[in-house]
Amino acid sequence: MRVHGNLVSSSFVALALASGVQCLRKVIYFDQYHTATLPPRNVTSGITHVVMAFANSSLFIGDTAGPYTPFMNVSDVRNLFDQGTQIGIALGGWADTAGFSAGSKDDASRKTYAQNVADMADSHGFDFVDIDWEYPGGNGADYKEVPNSEKVDEIPAYPKLLKEIKAAISPKPLSIAVPGLPRDLLAYNEEQSPDIWAAVDFVNVMSYDFMNRRDNETKHHTDLRTSLEAVDAYLDLGLCPSKINLGFAFYAKYFQTEPGVDCSATPIGCPIVKAENDDGSDAGTSGSMTFETANVAPSVPGNLSTSTDGSCGTGTPFTCQGVADGQCCSQYGFCGSSAAHCGTGCQSDYGTCSGPAILDSFSKALKNGITDDEAGGQWYWDADAELFWTYDTVALMQRKYTEIVKARGLGGVMAWSLGEDSYDWSHLLSLVHDTRGIRTARRGPVKTSGFHQGRALPLGSHRSRHV
Ligand SMILES: *[C@@H]1O[C@H](CO)[C@@H](O)[C@H](O)[C@H]1NC(C)=O
Ligand SMILES: *[C@@H]1O[C@H](CO)[C@@H](O)[C@H](O)[C@H]1NC(C)=O
Ligand SMILES: *[C@@H]1O[C@H](CO)[C@@H](O)[C@H](O)[C@H]1NC(C)=O
Ligand SMILES: *[C@@H]1O[C@H](CO)[C@@H](O)[C@H](O)[C@H]1NC(C)=O
Ligand SMILES: *[C@@H]1O[C@H](CO)[C@@H](O)[C@H](O)[C@H]1NC(C)=O
Repeated sequence: MRVHGNLVSSSFVALALASGVQCLRKVIYFDQYHTATLPPRNVTSGITHVVMAFANSSLFIGDTAGPYTPFMNVSDVRNLFDQGTQIGIALGGWADTAGFSAGSKDDASRKTYAQNVADMADSHGFDFVDIDWEYPGGNGADYKEVPNSEKVDEIPAYPKLLKEIKAAISPKPLSIAVPGLPRDLLAYNEEQSPDIWAAVDFVNVMSYDFMNRRDNETKHHTDLRTSLEAVDAYLDLGLCPSKINLGFAFYAKYFQTEPGVDCSATPIGCPIVKAENDDGSDAGTSGSMTFETANVAPSVPGNLSTSTDGSCGTGTPFTCQGVADGQCCSQYGFCGSSAAHCGTGCQSDYGTCSGPAILDSFSKALKNGITDDEAGGQWYWDADAELFWTYDTVALMQRKYTEIVKARGLGGVMAWSLGEDSYDWSHLLSLVHDTRGIRTARRGPVKTSGFHQGRALPLGSHRSRHV
C-alpha cells in the first residue's frame, strides 16, 4: 500500500540527527480517585509531565461555563515532583463527552470553549492542557443510547476545536489522549488526521484496555504486539513519532470466562460471560484491579465489627456479617444482598459472597501469571474462580521500551495512573528509570517538517508488516 524507501528513511534520520536529540517525555496521569497514598520525591524524580484528571468537559461550554476546582491544590501537586515538572489538566475522560460535543459545534462555540479552557488553565497555573475525548465520532460510554451515526459531525469538528484550544492556550502545550483499538479510531482518518496532529504538541496513546467489556473472547489488555499495532496505526496516519507517548496501565483486568470451558491453554480466544448488557451498561462480570497495596497485599484487620452504616471492606474495620439488609460486601464497599453486592468483586473477607473472590484470585494471578512471550502479555486463568486475568509486568514494560519506544523513535511514555501503583511503585520506577538510555530525535524547526506533513517516517527499522 505504501512504500518507505531506504533513501527516504535514511535522509530523514540524517536530518533528525543534525537537529539534535532530546530526552523522553515521562508523562503520568494523576487521577482524583487515587490520592490516599502518594509516592515520595525520590520515586517521582524524573517524571517530566503530570496530568491531573479530570475537569468536567461541560464546565467550558458557552455562557454556562462554571468554575473548576482542582481536586488538589496545584502548588501542592507541584511539590510532589521535581522542580520544573510540567503540571497539566485533563478534560473529559471516559463517559464525559457532552461538553466536547456541545463545545465543538460551530465556530462561535469553539472560540468560547477554547477561551474558557485557557482562562481556567491560567487561573490555576496549569502548564498544559490535555483533551480526553473518548471518543470523537462515537463508541463512547453512551454508544447504545446515542448511535455513532448521530455523531458524524464531531469528526470534522474535532480538529477545529483542538486548533482553537491550541490558539487560546498558546504558548502552553496541548496534548490529547487517543484510543488504542482500531475500532475506536473513528475521527482519526486520513482526511482529519493532518489537522489533528498540527494542533497538538504530544499524543498519549492509550495502548491498554485492548480487551474490554465489549469483547466476547479473551485477549491481552495491554500486550506488546497490540501496542505496537496501535502506534503503527498512528504513524500510518502521518503522526510524527516524536509526538507519540506510549501508554502503560498500572492495573490488571479480569473477566469471567464461560462456565465449564477450560481456558488454561491459551490467553487468546476463550469465550467469556457476556460482560456488557444490551443497553451498553456494565454487566458486572469483569473489572480491573490496580497495583495498590490494598489489592496486591491486602491485610484484613483482625477485629472486624458489624457495619453500622452499611460501609464495609478494604480500608474499613467493618464486615457485613450480621447486617440485616444483606451480608455481602460489594467491591465498592457497601453491604447488601443484590447480585452486584454478592457476585463478582464481592469482598469475601468482609461478608459472604456468591461470586468468585476477586482479591484472592488476583493474588493467585500475580503469583502464577504466565508470560506470553510472542504477544508480550502476562495472563492467568483461575480455574476455580473461572476468571481470566491480563496485566503488564516490569519485564514486559522493558521489552516495550526497546521494541516499541526505541524501535519507532517515539517521544515518550505515559501511564494511567500515579496512585494506582502504590504497592511498591515498581511500574512507575521502571517507566522513569528503565527508559533513561533512550533518546528521541528532535524535530528540527524547519528542515524536517516537510517530511511529517505526509506519511510518518519511523526512525530505525522498517515496519515489517509493510514490507
Ligand atoms: C526513597 O527513600 C526512602 C526513604 O529514605 C527509601 O526507603 C527508598 O528506598 C527510596 N526509594 C528509592 C526508589 O530511591
Ligand atoms: C459533568 O457535568 C455535567 C453537567 O453538569 C453532568 O451532567 C455530568 O454528570 C458531569 N460528568 C461527570 C463525569 O461528572
Ligand atoms: C494553595 O496553596 C497555596 C500555597 O500554599 C496557598 O497560598 C493557597 O491558598 C492554596 N489554595 C487553596 C485553594 O487551598
Ligand atoms: C460480541 O458479540 C456481539 C453479539 O454477537 C457482537 O455484536 C459484537 O460485535 C461482538 N464483539 C466483538 C468485539 O467482536
Ligand atoms: C482494631 O484493632 C486496632 C489495632 O489494635 C485498633 O487500632 C482498632 O481501634 C480496633 N478497631 C476496632 C473497631 O475495635
